[in-house]
Amino acid sequence: MRKTIIAGNWKMYKTLKDGQELAVALRRDLYKIENTDIVICPPFTLLGFLADALESSNIAVGAQDLYWQEEGAFTGEVSPAMIKDAGCLYVIIGHSERRQFFDETNETVNKKIKAALKCGLIPIVCVGENLQEREADKTFKVIEEHINKGLADISASDMSKIIVAYEPVWAIGTGKTATPEQAQEVHKFIRGLLSKIYGQEAAEGIRIQYGGSVKPENITELMNKPDVDGALVGGASLKAESFAAIVTKASEVTK
Ligand code: PGA
Repeated sequence: MRKTIIAGNWKMYKTLKDGQELAVALRRDLYKIENTDIVICPPFTLLGFLADALESSNIAVGAQDLYWQEEGAFTGEVSPAMIKDAGCLYVIIGHSERRQFFDETNETVNKKIKAALKCGLIPIVCVGENLQEREADKTFKVIEEHINKGLADISASDMSKIIVAYEPVWAIGTGKTATPEQAQEVHKFIRGLLSKIYGQEAAEGIRIQYGGSVKPENITELMNKPDVDGALVGGASLKAESFAAIVTKASEVTK
């Protein structure tokens, strides 16, 4: 049985006061949830503050990116140890917005995953096709490349710590969610790829989140699919009411 994991990706939203209010509200609304891992990923500037605000709660904090070097003259970058030091347990790697706007490639994703693992951070690795690729029937090809190259040379024991997030780019921030069937089809394909590399038993243990316009209204039907183990939530994670509803509903799904 894979434990459900719901993560909120705040992207480039929220200054300190708003972020603290949201964290405090989530702590209040979600303290009873035990069967689901809950993560929030605020901007770098808030990480330390919110890790403090959420200390000894059931909500963990993650960063939205990292750089793979340990330290050095890399102006503007943040190292894995700095993220760990700020109180984070997770880090999102390879989000489509980073692939699209900041030259993230499968090769840099691979370096970042290795650096995160080395430091004891849990990577949430994003994969997914864009609309053009889906329409050209290239979804599986793109996913295969993201998985094979992004996860190159990752050992089975390291892989067991990694979370994969399937995020079809055409569903991100568009209000257009993949149908539960579309999500399940790709999640199953991803598990099959992982099974080829790491064996079936290991692949069965790896958690795969769905991301792309997840809302309180669609989380239950997505979670009802056998290979959907959680969600990476953007827009709906910015309000306590909607994120708490998503977490609560996800926690109520039994498989
Ligand atoms: P969305 O974003 O929920 O706003 O579509 C998801 C994501 O980018 O992780």
